[in-house]
Amino acid sequence: MAEKKKGRILTGHRPTGPRHIGHLLGTLEQWAKMQDDYECYFLIADLHVLTTDFEHPERIQSNIADVMVDWLASGLDPRRAKFVRQSALMEHAQLALLFGNLTTVARLERVPTYKEQTQQLNLNPSAGLLTYPVLQSADILIYKANLVPVGEDQLPHIELTREIARKFNTQYGETFPEPEGLLTKTARLPGTDNRTMHNSYGNTIRLGDTPEETTKKVMSMYTDPTRLRATDPGTVEGNPVFEYHDVFNPNADEVADFKTRYREGKVGDVEVKRRLAEALNEYLAPLRARRAELTKDPKTAVRVLDEGTEAARPFVKANFHEAMHKMGLI
Ligand code: TRP
Repeated sequence: MAEKKKGRILTGHRPTGPRHIGHLLGTLEQWAKMQDDYECYFLIADLHVLTTDFEHPERIQSNIADVMVDWLASGLDPRRAKFVRQSALMEHAQLALLFGNLTTVARLERVPTYKEQTQQLNLNPSAGLLTYPVLQSADILIYKANLVPVGEDQLPHIELTREIARKFNTQYGETFPEPEGLLTKTARLPGTDNRTMHNSYGNTIRLGDTPEETTKKVMSMYTDPTRLRATDPGTVEGNPVFEYHDVFNPNADEVADFKTRYREGKVGDVEVKRRLAEALNEYLAPLRARRAELTKDPKTAVRVLDEGTEAARPFVKANFHEAMHKMGLI
């Protein structure tokens, strides 16, 4: 089947904890759609977690299991795609070691994610953090991937990957395709408190939340803070309750009617939120059904990851061997 596909995709997440509705909308639904058209590799980038979280070894395996369950429940499908565990294929890291010679420290210091993390957080950067995008380049190039669907913040990493591929190919002969970044259209769904949705803020709705937990979170969502009574005119723009309605409520007429009445002070927040909770729970119902099926045996999701990893191993080894050979090491 692979020969019918349009090319090869490699993308992934750092396993930092359970996935939430922001991941689903921004990323996972779009990855799931590409599985038939491309040969897909989905990477659990556990080595990358160490760049920020090395002092929490006890979290890594359970975070990996959580991410895998959420990925599979979201429609990523082991019959159509492969799942790979970065740390179990150390050729990723070994290739990164080789690639470290094809870029400069100055170049890596200019990478925006690095600049932001070191300047804003006023942190004393580790060598691992500086070389984060070199490892990411190896993740991508070791599969000779053509396309890398990522969020906007990751595009500079893809640019570096292209530079490394070019440098390698010029120096040692055509080896790695120059991959294209594919911007996943981020829905930019705010958190339930209207800040950026982030696990560490406790403002997410998790894919693993029950309908009851989801309803509870929706009912206590941030809304127009200046509106004290249901008869006060309310603001719809920038109000996360309405941003969620736009995304999750398939009944556009109802949403339009809510907006009109909200602006006129003719509907209460409670009614608007109650309907949102229902719509959101309906939206998530198929995902929850798959999740219930999957978690009957809690080992299933991790087994899928480990089987995918073993299936990918010969390909990864061959491509690493080719790089070693071309660089004169074999
Ligand atoms: N850096 C990515 C992120 O934080 C995760 C990642 C690691 C990745 N290796 C990758 C993404 C390779 C795409 C391709 O989201």
